[in-house]
Order: sequence, then structure tokens, then C-alpha cells
Amino acid sequence: MLYQTLNGETFTLSAAILELTYLIAAIFFVVGLKFLSHPETAKKGNLWAASGMILAMVTTLFLHESGEGEKITLTNGIIVVLTILIAAVVGWVVARKVKMTAMPQLVSLFNATGGIASALVALMEYPAVSTAGILIVTLLGLTIGSISFSGSLIAYGKLDGKVGDIFSPVMKYVNIILLVVVLGLLVYLASMGSDTASALIYGLFVISLVYGVLFVMPIGGADMPVVISLLNSFTGIAAAMAGFIYGNQAMILGGIFVGAAGSILTVLMCKAMNRSLINVIIGAFGGGASAAQSEGGTIKEISVSDAAILMNYSQRVVITPGYGLAVAKAQHAVRELDQMLEGNGVEVKYAIHPVAGRMPGHMNVLLAEAEVPYDKLLKMEDVNPQLPNTDVVLVIGANDTVNPAAKEDPGSPIYGMPIVEANEAKNVIVMKRGMGKGYSGIENQLFLQDKTRMLFGNAKDSVQKILEEIKNM
Ligand code: TAP
Repeated sequence: MLYQTLNGETFTLSAAILELTYLIAAIFFVVGLKFLSHPETAKKGNLWAASGMILAMVTTLFLHESGEGEKITLTNGIIVVLTILIAAVVGWVVARKVKMTAMPQLVSLFNATGGIASALVALMEYPAVSTAGILIVTLLGLTIGSISFSGSLIAYGKLDGKVGDIFSPVMKYVNIILLVVVLGLLVYLASMGSDTASALIYGLFVISLVYGVLFVMPIGGADMPVVISLLNSFTGIAAAMAGFIYGNQAMILGGIFVGAAGSILTVLMCKAMNRSLINVIIGAFGGGASAAQSEGGTIKEISVSDAAILMNYSQRVVITPGYGLAVAKAQHAVRELDQMLEGNGVEVKYAIHPVAGRMPGHMNVLLAEAEVPYDKLLKMEDVNPQLPNTDVVLVIGANDTVNPAAKEDPGSPIYGMPIVEANEAKNVIVMKRGMGKGYSGIENQLFLQDKTRMLFGNAKDSVQKILEEIKNM
């Protein structure tokens, strides 16, 4: 039976219910995003967003009708359900098996699948495009999805150590030329109009794939989290474009949410590192000279027993973890140390820098895994004013995020980056293996200050030794 809108357009009851469920799915996505903004509710957020997606998929399967009013055929329905089931099993197994430290790689791979799915939708639908507007979103979806696919695969390879950094100054120019070719082809195909399908579309597909590879290739491995977040926003935009092709509200809204979230995260990460996105993409980072290097100073070590005594007889200890905590997998030992100190009357808190580690929320995830109560994790801006009244700041595998050069040395590559002001505390104990530099490749004057004591060794071993020492006190 057909119904009519006020302006005379006809629609079926199935179509109306389908549109309504897309709206409900979009509301689920928004609620999911809201919950995802806090670690304590993030799991719930994932469930809400996934439920919205399941609702949209199931209703599409049963209620979708083609322009001629035909429902999905049984054979196609079976193919779709089988594909979803296989993909769901693969996704479930991979997500359960992946180690916490390999999470960025997994995000990259998932991102690649989203990118290629959108690109293939655009490639398949291109010959049937009927209006100029849809032609433009099809071409954009194809280009952005393809760049996101191949770029994400390279990002995965780099994070997993399978692909090295290949940087040559020439690549900057090659990339600019390629980008111009991609854009030129896109404009040419768009100008040909929607009634002429061209084989050049495959050219656009291939060149976009090549551009994705070459665009990510020269970017430093440690900058990958920012790049992944950027590519994630590309995938969202490509999915929204695919949504426009089908006039599917759930795809459009879902894509826009992913695109917006990825863009916001990219900007936040760049801000927390005090670098522009352009600098991340084309700037080789690290190794810059810093005035701190020439200031001199001596390194003073501390023994395990002195470190244990200092912390055990303090009133307040603040632990600030960094990338080394992740490398050493020291989070469980740290949690044990925290409990033991608290049991002996010491107040223990954690100072969390927004870009400590190598991925957004890296420290929060590791500490949550070790079941450190969330209210003990203080944001950098909240903890800094408390540090002058803190007896000991325990720096575990952090370097750049506690480097005073970011505040004091205008010549430093990290000048302007906000830091955990560990140097303001009464005492500082730094756990690291040696005098290795951090991600930015510069010296850290904090390690040479009078109030700082170094405890060299793998962070997990050092924490465990201190635990033993306190137990025997
Ligand atoms: P880093 O500055 O990278 O320093 C980590 C330190 O950990 C190193 O100096 C290393 O010194 C030590 N370390 C490594 N393995 C260790 C182990 N097993 N035990 C003990 N120590 C170990 O770390 P950070 O302070 O967390 O700063 C993060 C950096 O990454 C920032 O520059 C940030 O801008 C950048 N970055 C972060 C992100 C995100 S989203 N988090 C994204 C891109 C870039 P030794 O070799 O001497 O042990």
C-alpha cells in the first residue's frame, strides 16, 4: 500500500519504518559517543553504538526496497547475512586476541576496511550515478576511501615494525604532484557529467591508493597515532559520502560522527604536542638542539632501598607514567606498589599527560587494565598546582612529558608543549633503563637537577624490587 506526503510524494509503510529506525540508530550512535567520552562508561558506549548499527543492519535487510519497490532477494539476503557473520567472527577473534599494546595496529586495520568498503561502494555505483551532486560525492568517496585504505595499511605496517620510515626530501614534491593529479582527475571526471561513465575512474582509484601509500610513508613511526586519527576521520567522511550515494541516513550520520570524532582527536593530539598538523605530516620531528643539552649537571643515582624509604615515609607520592611503562608492562606492579604505599598511610595519585605513551589514552587504558581506580588518575592541569606540595614524583618511563625544556627553552623542539611539572615537586625519582632519549629525541634537564634521583633498569623490575624492599621494612 502507498502513502502520500503533504507535497504529493508516495512512500510505503516499510520505507517509513526504515527511515524511523535509521533515526533511532543515529540516536544510539550519539548516546554511544557520549558514553565513550569517559573511560568508566566507554564499554557501555560501545554497546550502545553497536546496538544502533545492528538495528540499522537488520531493518535494512528486512525493510529495504529498491526504487522499483522490490525487497532484497533471498539469495542476496543469505550472502549478506553470511558475510556479516564471517566478518563478525573474524572481528571478535582478532579483538579478543590482540594485546593492549597492539591496539593502535588493530584500529588501523579496522580503519582500512572502512576505507576500502566506502571506495568500493563508490566504484560500483559510479556507472549508475544519476545527478551531478551524487557524482561529486561518489568521486569524493572513492578518492578519500582509497587514500584511507592504503594509508591505514602503511600505518599498520609502521606501528607493527613491518614497514620502516622512508624519508627523502624529494618525496614531499612527489606527494604534492600526486595530490594535484588526484584532484585534477577528480575535477575532470566531475566535469564530464553524470551521464558519461568513464574508465578513468579506475585510474582515480589506483592513483588514490598510491597517494595513500606515499602520503603516510615518510611520516615518522611515532607520529602514527595522529595519522591514524586523521585517516579515521577520512574513513568517516568516505562512509558519509557512500551514505549520500544511497540516500541512507544512518550511513550519513554514522560517517559524519566518525569523521568529526577523528578530526577533533587529531586536533587535540596536535595541540597536546604543540605542533601543527602540517608539521606532523611533513615535518621530520626530533633530534633538535636544546639549550638544556649545554647546561650540564650531574646524574645522581638512587638505590632501591633509598627509593623505597623515601616513598614509604612520604605523605604524598604522585606517579607519572610514560611510554616506558607500556614497554615494560609495569602497570600491575605499579598498582601493587600503590596499594602497598596506601596501606602504609601514603597518599598515591597518578599524573596523566594527554599524549604520554604512543596512543590517545594510552596510560588510562594500561592503568585501567591493572584496575587502578579511575579517581586516582589526575589530569595534568589538575595535578600541576598540587606538585609543589608533593613529597615525591615517581616518573616511570616518561621523558618528553616531564621535560622542563618545554616551558623554559624557546630553542627546544617541544617548547610550548604542556608538561607534568615534576620538577616542582620536593623530590623526583626517575625510572628508566639508561639515558635513552624520548620520542622527540632531545635531552631532559630534569634528570640532571639536584632534586632528581635516577633508578636505572627496566621499570617493571625496578618497581618489583622496591615492592620487595618495602615488604621487608
Ligand atoms: P617518551 O618521551 O617517548 O620517553 C619514554 C622513555 O621511556 C624513554 O626515554 C626510555 O628511556 C624509557 N623506557 C623505554 N622502555 C623502558 C623500560 N622498559 N623501562 C623503563 N623505561 C623505559 O615518553 P612520554 O613521556 O610518554 O612521551 C610521549 C611522547 O610521544 C611525546 O613526545 C608525545 O608527543 C609523543 N606522541 C604521543 C602520542 C600519543 S597520542 N600518546 C602520539 C604521537 C606522539 P630509556 O631508553 O633510557 O629506558
